Amino acid sequence: MPIHHLASAGELHLRNEQLSYVLRLSPRGRPELLHFGGPIDPELSHGHLVPPVVAWCTEPGRPECPTPGSGDFGAPALVLEQADGSSTLELAYVGHRILAGKPAIPGLPSTYVERDEEADTLEVELADARSGARVFLVYTVFRDLAVVARHLRVVNGGDAPLTLRCAMSASVDLPGGAWELTQLSGGWARECQVVRRPVAPGSQSIGSLRGHSSHHHNPLLILERGDTTEERGDAYGLSLVYSGNFLAEVEASADKIRARIGIHPGAFSWKLAPGEELCTPEAILAYSAEGRGALSEAYHQLFRERLARGPWRDRPRPVLLNSWEAVYCDFDEERLLRLAAEARDLGVELFVLDDGWFLGRDSDQTSLGDWTPDPRKLPGGLARLGRAVEAMGLGFGIWIEPEMVSQRSQLFAAHPDWAIGSPGRTRTEYRHQRVLDLSRPEVVEWIFQAIAGLLRSAPIRYVKWDMNRSITEPFGGMLPAERQGEFFHRYVLGVYALYRRLADAFPEVLFESCSSGGGRFDPGMLACAPQAWTSDCTDAMERLATQWGASLCYPLSSMGAHVSAVPNHQMGRVTSLETRGAVAFFGVLGYELDPGALEDGARAILRDQVAFYKAHRELLQRGRFFRLVSPFEGDRNHASWMCASRDAQRAIVGYYRVLQHVGEPSHLIRLRGLDPAARYRVSAWPGSEPGAGGDAFVIRGGDELTRVGLLIPGESDAGPRQGDFGSRLFVLERCWGVPVPHPPVIP
Ligand code: DGJ
Repeated sequence: MPIHHLASAGELHLRNEQLSYVLRLSPRGRPELLHFGGPIDPELSHGHLVPPVVAWCTEPGRPECPTPGSGDFGAPALVLEQADGSSTLELAYVGHRILAGKPAIPGLPSTYVERDEEADTLEVELADARSGARVFLVYTVFRDLAVVARHLRVVNGGDAPLTLRCAMSASVDLPGGAWELTQLSGGWARECQVVRRPVAPGSQSIGSLRGHSSHHHNPLLILERGDTTEERGDAYGLSLVYSGNFLAEVEASADKIRARIGIHPGAFSWKLAPGEELCTPEAILAYSAEGRGALSEAYHQLFRERLARGPWRDRPRPVLLNSWEAVYCDFDEERLLRLAAEARDLGVELFVLDDGWFLGRDSDQTSLGDWTPDPRKLPGGLARLGRAVEAMGLGFGIWIEPEMVSQRSQLFAAHPDWAIGSPGRTRTEYRHQRVLDLSRPEVVEWIFQAIAGLLRSAPIRYVKWDMNRSITEPFGGMLPAERQGEFFHRYVLGVYALYRRLADAFPEVLFESCSSGGGRFDPGMLACAPQAWTSDCTDAMERLATQWGASLCYPLSSMGAHVSAVPNHQMGRVTSLETRGAVAFFGVLGYELDPGALEDGARAILRDQVAFYKAHRELLQRGRFFRLVSPFEGDRNHASWMCASRDAQRAIVGYYRVLQHVGEPSHLIRLRGLDPAARYRVSAWPGSEPGAGGDAFVIRGGDELTRVGLLIPGESDAGPRQGDFGSRLFVLERCWGVPVPHPPVIP
């Protein structure tokens, strides 16, 4: 049982092999956090770690649900305004219950279990006698994962309305001292840049008020002790299973830090009529005593296996060719079929028709909402195209942007009131499109019917679901004035309801989420679609940084990664096909170019890439991922990462160099996830190296590879000169009983 109740001390202890989360409960008292970190003895009391509050001290110790106005002067987890306008609460412990397994959160995506033995859930009930508010703090501890899932349920048990002004999913007080904060920030086409900074006194936060989680900040915070590395030290993660406005904040005071994550209170309020309740999204708290790498691994496993869902969760993801950068909106059926045939010749498995296929859509200026194939381009519709693609032996997929409407569209002409906008206000223009009001159930219903009809009309096996603009002039067309603060959250609930209905109705369809690349790359979307388009920037060097950053929390099976043409369409850089492949392999591989425009030699390289990826995709999509050399640290000129199989039998290492320098020295990269007692056959892909004398492979000990490193030869006379943006891939296979008296020597 991972949840222990030490009744004599009033302590509840969530524990597994990797962590303990210890709460103190007392009648009339607020629940407090005694310890979150490495696993400790559940049969002993740990109350001495946080002395109980004494009468003359107004500051409560480490409240699990801080509220304003009654002695806690820090950032609140819950602000509940009562009928008289006051927000003071006296939340007292009422009771708790422990359940096997993990209940779902109504209307919201969340992590789950397949068998009750996988986790236990604790619900702590608090009540405020005067207002009638009942607050449930809900915690799930997974048996085999270093994570605790948390959310809040607030019930109006009184007889007057209450208004939630702030309802964070989790608030965690940790001891003070030197902490470092890591966040994933950036912008369009440069998502998930790793930003690390010391925690300073006061508050530091990231968030979104755009209506989606955004390109600018990802709903993740990592807190580390100053000396934590990839392999060593304490690391804590707070991640939010949510796709809308969020706030993630750390507030440091003299003796503690408070980290909180949840819906951004800056654009949120929620009215609770008597008897009504609201559940917050789920926060995933993770802990590692073995550095950032193990923290990421816990998130990867949880998100890949117990957040993503549906038949595609565990299936190998197909290699696709997406038409966007190949033809944009400029195509007809014949051109698409040529593209599909070329894709098939490369070994690609899925042909995806991106934007531009529906009524009058020749640019981004028109037609969103009119989900009918354009007969000028597709006289036989999606059905004939899809069948022809299938006849080639490929799966067929399409792009949609169901949450949007163009001003120039039949849908907008019929339902102008469905587009979001504040009455009497000028609408902010962006990409000639508006966002549909998904807080209205009839709009969700209409979109469902339109997209379901589309999916029934043709053999569609994959859907790329895009969302290309933020929400401005927020206003719910059907919401009364006092509920307008609910608009953003209701919008997100509408998105989830739509996704869920479509995914349930079409379980065999593989959904990929997208928001101009990674504008909604978050755990909430991952519960809806098992993979996401990581970034609109397909340049290999830029992608190194974005994919590295995203890997702090997201598994490779969730990251769409495409090889595109050069000069790169987003930034003009020219990199080799080999390097583009070597980066995209560490994700869900796709192509986004016209193979017919390439030389025969280049096509042969692509064919080899696809074959290589298919042969190793189990490892690349589902293996253990290790970050080795950071593009954000050191000389920022090199990066390296690897995937290793869980049984340490096989591994693939990627090594990248941004700029070539004269006399580039050799580098030793310490590998991870290998068996130090084993020997490995190390070969380079696609060939040449690693033996100076032309040997196809060398044998190296796992001890040497992990403790000394894999030698990457320098650009000396003996080593290869690749020029800027070089890369190398190494394949490691464990060898049994291979005599290695004189292994070839790498100079
Ligand atoms: C933005 C996406 O991120 C691109 O990949 C592409 O699908 C375009 N939208 C199409 O409009």
